[in-house]
Amino acid sequence: MHNDIKEKLFSQAEIERKIKELGRQITHDYKEGSLVLISILKGGVVFLADLMREIDLPLEIEFLGVESYGDSTKSSGVVQITKDCKIDLSAKDVLIVEDIMDTGLSLQYIIEILEKKNPRSLAICVLLDKVEAHQKDLQVEYSCFEIPNKFVVGYGLDYAEKYRNLPYIGILREEKYR
Ligand code: IMP
Ligand code: MG
Repeated sequence: MHNDIKEKLFSQAEIERKIKELGRQITHDYKEGSLVLISILKGGVVFLADLMREIDLPLEIEFLGVESYGDSTKSSGVVQITKDCKIDLSAKDVLIVEDIMDTGLSLQYIIEILEKKNPRSLAICVLLDKVEAHQKDLQVEYSCFEIPNKFVVGYGLDYAEKYRNLPYIGILREEKYR
């Protein structure tokens, strides 16, 4: 697994530091709120598991499943729900916890789904932001790291369902997906 990584971008320790900082910020910002963290399956789960324990507030968690990628490394632009969110979000402050904003097509779609559930507020939190790849102009309230337009894996992010358990984030060798 480690040999398939061309370049390590963020170590386990760096990610941990960033998430602690982010947790403190969210704790401060949502003091008066009724926070629900909605993690996007499957890439957002590792991030959620670490982030939720750095937020010192009563909160709820929920999962939303969407698929856009198949096993390819380019966004298809077609997103479909694989698991809907079931809890009542009205009067809740929803924070979407997602692994990465690439084109933004998935997040755009997710926002549309969640807005229909009438939350009191809705914001986006991503671990990684591929700024050069954006096709949608979405407001991202929280983001840990900006990354170049390269295919990355680890810390929840996969290629063909593998590498999610890598404890750091790295660029996958091109020969592994060509
Ligand atoms: P978007 O719709 O193009 O923003 O893509 C969002 C989804 O594609 C993310 O939730 C990831 O699951 C996946 N994705 C985008 N870029 C990468 C990457 O570099 N590595 C792994 N998955 C990625
Ligand atoms: Mg994925």
